[in-house]
Amino acid sequence: MGAVNVEINGIPLLVAEGTTILKAAEMVKVKVPTLCYHPDLPPWAACGICVVKVGGSPKMFRACSTPVGDGMKITTHDPEIVEVRRTVIELILSTHPNDCLECPRNQNCELQRLAAEEPANRRGPRGLAVRHDGRVGGGHHGQSASRTVSGRSTSSPTGPSTR
Ligand code: SF4
Ligand code: FES
Repeated sequence: MGAVNVEINGIPLLVAEGTTILKAAEMVKVKVPTLCYHPDLPPWAACGICVVKVGGSPKMFRACSTPVGDGMKITTHDPEIVEVRRTVIELILSTHPNDCLECPRNQNCELQRLAAEEPANRRGPRGLAVRHDGRVGGGHHGQSASRTVSGRSTSSPTGPSTR
């Protein structure tokens, strides 16, 4: 298998053909957020949180399932990408049925962590109050508002199309 030259956020890199953008980014210590990806399973590419831009294409690509191509110039973070990821998180939260306080993943959950990272997500999943400083606070102790997912639009993301 040959090797291909790519750039991740301007960092040049030589990687084996077939490497995913996600793996290539990891090699230069760039963390692309993921939710449905699991390193031991084939990529499912379902959630869309891992979108990145590839120079010359109007579309965004899912880093977990898209192999690098020779000469690719990949951008993993910019305001437009962050906005699409925020929308993805909001859509997931808008239909999320669970309650963190009852969930075995509580405090060990990537969705919880990503929701807390985003300043726009004032409310995380049920039972999880996201403070204004972005930290996750327990939303229990009789604070009923903190146990409710805020009403959010369920319309499709308005960002560039993804695949
Ligand atoms: S967001 Fe909360 S309810 Fe959902 S999986 Fe994570 S810990 Fe569980
Ligand atoms: S991590 Fe879910 S689509 Fe890539």
